[in-house]
Amino acid sequence: MGKLIIEGGKKISGEICVQGAKNAVLPILAATVMANDISVLKNCPYLRDVDKTDLVLERLGCKVIRENNTVTVDASGMNDCVICEDLMREMRSSIVFLGAIISRCKKAVVSMPGGCPIGLRPIDLHLKALKSLGVEIQEEHGYIKCKAEELCGGNIHLDFPSVGATENAMLAAVCAKGTTTISNAAREPEIVDLGRFLNCMGAKVCGMGSSVISIEGVEKLHGAEYTIMPDRIVAATYLAASAVTGGEICLKQVRPKDMGAMLHVLADMGAVLKIEKNSIVQQAPRRLNSVHTIRTMPYPGFPTDIQSPFMAMAAVAEGTSVFVENIFENRFQHVDELARMGADIKVVGRSAVVRGVKKLQGSNVVARELRGGAALVVAALCAQGVTTITGTDFIDRGYESIEKYLSECGAKIRRE
Ligand code: EPZ
Repeated sequence: MGKLIIEGGKKISGEICVQGAKNAVLPILAATVMANDISVLKNCPYLRDVDKTDLVLERLGCKVIRENNTVTVDASGMNDCVICEDLMREMRSSIVFLGAIISRCKKAVVSMPGGCPIGLRPIDLHLKALKSLGVEIQEEHGYIKCKAEELCGGNIHLDFPSVGATENAMLAAVCAKGTTTISNAAREPEIVDLGRFLNCMGAKVCGMGSSVISIEGVEKLHGAEYTIMPDRIVAATYLAASAVTGGEICLKQVRPKDMGAMLHVLADMGAVLKIEKNSIVQQAPRRLNSVHTIRTMPYPGFPTDIQSPFMAMAAVAEGTSVFVENIFENRFQHVDELARMGADIKVVGRSAVVRGVKKLQGSNVVARELRGGAALVVAALCAQGVTTITGTDFIDRGYESIEKYLSECGAKIRRE
């Protein structure tokens, strides 16, 4: 596992063009298999998860070419409908290929995705949605075997607005016979991006971004050219990195309208934000204020993915903040590591009580999952002394060249 070595105390100031969104590009890459054609995706970030998804596409028989931030997928040669265990264990979010492969091949076999560091990650809602469209599903020997004589539109109600289940339902419904309604659908901006891409492929998806998505099935789809949306979680992580060091930062190629809940918290903590359509300028206060209570919720509520980087900010704020993690059952693994740096955090069930301290101390810490790793970077940037973060593979899953972007904004950070 690689290491990041950070000497804290430098202001993070400057300008960053924010990368494309990991959680938009993954389902959109999966969707490219649904057309016997070529698709061109722009603004694709360089991430481990994107590399792994490219590998899945190649294992399915597709040709994938990357030129800088553009990925071209030729799905005309697709010759398989199986995603094996090693790939699913590598990246459980490959489950979103299920709907796409069934759409194209009327059958699919994927290994059970299993859990991950932040929770059990069940897929019951995915499978229930697919069954509503006429998919027959067999779960045996750790594999999920799906087949559908014919995909028929239907009414899908999600007991929870699951992002992945909404995506799988959309992917399986776009070429089903008849109309599909997905109620209690996830409303995340990444769902909107997927719907827009599908419509560029010739699908008829409407209502994405609302709780009710309607899809009129079409005969077939064609390839499309599409630019991936900016990553709102990475953008907010850089705002936190600058805010916690008293810096002034300008983010370009962002969509502030996707980031409302996060920007309100930053303002509540004392950051001064100047918001334009595609940019954010943030001036941090000398010391951040605590925030009364943060509850993670489905969009448009406060995103679970930014809970840990924002907790790193609260760890040195004036006063006490409370974080309630309502989405995943094990998303406080960064707390022990922040405590090693001198943070005063008490976890009780799904809540974490954070009493701000004046200064964190640099130390050796371990990233145990993607966003918890990002939280350790935020903490290290404002800590006194040097911090070594082990587990950069986790961070690289979601943050493109994190040390490059941060060092260009004044951080003393290097990778080993
Ligand atoms: C997506 O995961 C994101 N991943 C996650 O980002 C994000 O945290 C999450 O949505 C919530 O916004 C990608 O898009 C690749 P869910 P997903 O289905 O689809 C329960 C990151 O750091 N659930 O909305 O797996 C589940 O247990 C990652 O970038 C069921 O019970 O999230 C969880 O408690 C982490 N049954 C809740 O729903 C199901 O069938 C939310 O899960 C599916 C989900």
